[in-house]
Amino acid sequence: MITPSSPFAPFDDVLIAPDRLRARIVELGAQITKDYEGSNLLLVGVLKGSVFFMADLARAIDLPLEMDYMAVSSYGNATESSGVVRMLKDLDAPIAGRDVLIVEDIVDSGRTLSYLIELLQQRGPASIEVCALLTKPERAEVDVDARYVGFEIPNRFVVGYGLDYAERYRNLEYICCLDEANLPTIEPARTRSQVEEGHPA
Ligand code: IMP
Ligand code: MG
Repeated sequence: MITPSSPFAPFDDVLIAPDRLRARIVELGAQITKDYEGSNLLLVGVLKGSVFFMADLARAIDLPLEMDYMAVSSYGNATESSGVVRMLKDLDAPIAGRDVLIVEDIVDSGRTLSYLIELLQQRGPASIEVCALLTKPERAEVDVDARYVGFEIPNRFVVGYGLDYAERYRNLEYICCLDEANLPTIEPARTRSQVEEGHPA
């Protein structure tokens, strides 16, 4: 685990410290517990950014629930999503009749989530709502009505607690801003699908 004092922590601009994350997630869990009492709750985590949030949120919810995951890729460079979304991993189980709560790391333009909501809506769930740890209201292009939001943040690129830059820094225990004028040089590894499609290394 990389903490602010770790030699591997390249950023000291901590935006949300671990204790604030924990406290807010406990609040979200309590609200979700109240709202979904007696329902058939299925948490759908969007890989990979939501894994830490999903794990902590699920344990803050005092209800029987199930957890499933899907992965999508939004084409783009390391800090900007292109809005073109492709499914990499679908859910394991049907969601008909389920109360689906999509758990996302961050709503940026909103395109990834609006694609996911539309896709899952076609499968006949009883309900679909969104719980996003972070939103960047200044960047919203597509209106995504997230019922639960952890923190509204300014228009900065952030990493940590699941969020990455070129797949790095997910294991920071806190969320911090990345200095976009001074990005670390990381050669992003190509994904298997990029290799299959012949994207240049
Ligand atoms: P959207 O489709 O523009 O809403 O982008 C959503 C996805 O882009 C998120 O699920 C993240 O994976 C990624 N993303 C957007 N902003 C950030 C950021 O500040 N840090 C890390 N990833 C981000
Ligand atoms: Mg994501």
